[in-house]
Amino acid sequence: MGMDVEELMKKLLHSKSCASPMRRITRYLRGVIAVLLSVGCFAGCNVERRKSDAELGLNTQQAAGRRIYDRHCDQCHEPYSSSGKKGPGLKGVFKKEYLSVSGLPANDDRVSEIVRLGRSKMPAFGQTLDQQQLQDLLAYMHTL
Ligand code: HEC
Repeated sequence: MGMDVEELMKKLLHSKSCASPMRRITRYLRGVIAVLLSVGCFAGCNVERRKSDAELGLNTQQAAGRRIYDRHCDQCHEPYSSSGKKGPGLKGVFKKEYLSVSGLPANDDRVSEIVRLGRSKMPAFGQTLDQQQLQDLLAYMHTL
């Protein structure tokens, strides 16, 4: 990104292609605007906007699961990134055959067990979530 902006400025300032000074100024201004826009995007777009349930294409059950995830899991697990917080990121958790940290099979049974019983520094949710909530949560996690 830094390089692009620098190159753009160089091109604009040293451009020999436009003859009239007016055109040159217009070009320069256009460049300044482009730079401002890209800097604005750099600052703003870095923090990814939270997508709505509809944008994610979640059905009612998955959306219910997302709310449970937000309340109980998000503080330790990124849902849309594999980078870790207190626990591993859960992006694509069911897309692989095995869970990355525990090496357990990535299926509903094993993941339910982890959620109900907890694991090392992960707290147990067996007392917090009922069967329906657990099902909703899993349905959502399958969309990650
Ligand atoms: C206080 C932080 C914390 C919270 C809250 C938490 N977890 Fe975890 N979770 C962890 C840690 C730490 C691990 C790694 C455990 C280990 O060392 O095996 C983990 C592991 C996991 C794993 C297995 C990952 C793997 O690769 O083996 C899954 C799946 C998981 N958590 C799902 C959830 C879900 C779903 C919730 C919400 C109901 C949740 N976690 C809430 C910290 C947390």
